[in-house]
Amino acid sequence: MPSDAAITLPTPVIKLPTELGALDSDAFSGSVAHQKKAHRVIPGGAHTYAKGDDQMPEAAPLVVERGLGCRVWDVDGNSFVEYGMGLRAVTLGHAEPRVTAAAMRALEGGTNFTRPAAVELRAAEAFLGLIDGAEMVKFCKDGSNATTAAAKLARAATGRDKIALCASHPFLSQDDWFIGATPMDAGIPQAVKDLTVRFPYGDASALEALFALHPDEIACVIMEPARGVEDATHYLLEVQRICREHGAVLVFDEMLTGFRWHLKGAQHLYGVTPDLSTFGKAMANGFSVSALAGRRDLMERGGLHTEYERVFLLSGTHGAETHGLAAAIETMRIYAEEDVVGTLYRQGARLRDGVNQHINRLGLSKQFAVLGRDCNLVFATRDADGLPSQPFRTLFLQELIRRGILAPSFVVSAAHDNDAIDQTIESVGEALEVYRDALDGDVNQFLSGRPVKPVFRRYV
Ligand SMILES: Cc1ncc(COP(=O)(O)O)c(C=O)c1O
Repeated sequence: MPSDAAITLPTPVIKLPTELGALDSDAFSGSVAHQKKAHRVIPGGAHTYAKGDDQMPEAAPLVVERGLGCRVWDVDGNSFVEYGMGLRAVTLGHAEPRVTAAAMRALEGGTNFTRPAAVELRAAEAFLGLIDGAEMVKFCKDGSNATTAAAKLARAATGRDKIALCASHPFLSQDDWFIGATPMDAGIPQAVKDLTVRFPYGDASALEALFALHPDEIACVIMEPARGVEDATHYLLEVQRICREHGAVLVFDEMLTGFRWHLKGAQHLYGVTPDLSTFGKAMANGFSVSALAGRRDLMERGGLHTEYERVFLLSGTHGAETHGLAAAIETMRIYAEEDVVGTLYRQGARLRDGVNQHINRLGLSKQFAVLGRDCNLVFATRDADGLPSQPFRTLFLQELIRRGILAPSFVVSAAHDNDAIDQTIESVGEALEVYRDALDGDVNQFLSGRPVKPVFRRYV
C-alpha cells in the first residue's frame, strides 16, 4: 500500500488563548456558546465522560475544531500543544497524512458490504504478525466491546460466572460487569454486581486468597499487564500460574500498553502470554478499531469450527468498517518501520527530565510529581501537606491552558517534536511558579472557577 501523503492541509496559525491573566476574557466565547447548546442536547455535553466539562478548569472551556500533529485548535481559533491525544488513541499525531490517505482510499471503495471485505483478512494478518502470542483475532469498534467479549468467552469456556478484575486499574469497560464495581453504578442490578470480584495489583497472595474465597467460580482474571515502571514479569508469571491452577482464563487488557509499552505489546515485553488479550486505542491512530485476540481453542468457540456450544462473539454491523481497518493496517506498518514506540519513550523522557528540573528548581518535589513510563507519563498534584489535590490539579491545568498547553496528562505522541516538548517544559516551569505561590495562600483564590472532579462519583 503506498504511504505517501495524499492530502495536504494548510498549516493553521498558532494563537495563544489569551494574554496572561486574562483567562476570563472572551477568548473562549465560541466554546462557551457551544457548550451551552451541547448540554441541552447531549447529556454531559460530550460523548465521553473523560472529555466532560468537569474534567477541565471552568474558565478554559475549549471545544476542539481540528487537530494536526501534536496541536489542536479550538472553535475560537486558540491553539494548544495537546497531551493524551484522544484518550491515548492518537499516537502518530492528529490527521497523520499517510493514515488519512489509507482510510480515504478505503472509503472510496465503500465502507460496508453484504459479505466480508478483503481488508478484514489483511488487517488480521498484520495484527497477528505483531502480536505473536495470539493465534486468532476479532476486530470491533471500542475497547469495551473487546474486554466484555473476553469475559463472555471465558464464562462460556469455563462454565463459571464470576469475573476477577484488578481493582488497581481504573477502567476496563463501560459495560455493567465493570461499571458495577465503581461508585457510579446506578442502573446496574445487584445480581450483576455480585458476579464481579476484585484483587489488588502486584500481590499474588491476594489473588490466591480470592480464588480460595470463590472456589470453582471465577471464569477469568482480567487486568492491565502493568501501568507503571515496574518489571512486571515475576508477578505476571505468578498470576498465570494461579489462573492455570484454578482453571481460569487469563486476560490482559492491552488497551494502553499495546502499541505503547512495546510494538508487540506488554505481553512480549514481559514474556508472559495470556490466554486472551484486548487492544484498541493506539492501533489505528484514533480510528475506531479494537481487537480481541488469543488462543485458537478459545477464540474458535465463536467461529464455525467448534464442537462446543457456540458463543456469540462480537458481531457488530460496523465491526469491520473498511476505512478503520485500512487505517489500522497503515498505522501498524508505520509502527513497525519507524520505531514509533522508541520515539514515544524518547520524547517522554525529554519532557520528564525538563519538568523534573523545574520541580527541583522550585523545591516542589513533595507537591508535584511526574509518574509512569516515559511512553505514558501522568502527573500528581498535591497540596502543601502533600495530599492529593483536585484544586491544585485545576490550577496547574488552568495555568498551562493559559500558555497554550492542553495537558490532562503528559502522554506524548510521535508527533511531539522537540519544539513542542521544549515549549511545554517552559510553560510547566511558569505554571509551577504560580503553583508554588498558591501553596503559600488559598489555592481557590488562584482559580478562575470551580475545581475539576473525578469521573467516577455518585452525584454531580
Ligand atoms: C485499560 C482500558 N481498557 C478498556 C478501555 C475501554 O475502551 P473504550 O473506551 O474504547 O471502550 C479503556 C478506555 O479508556 C482503557 O483505558
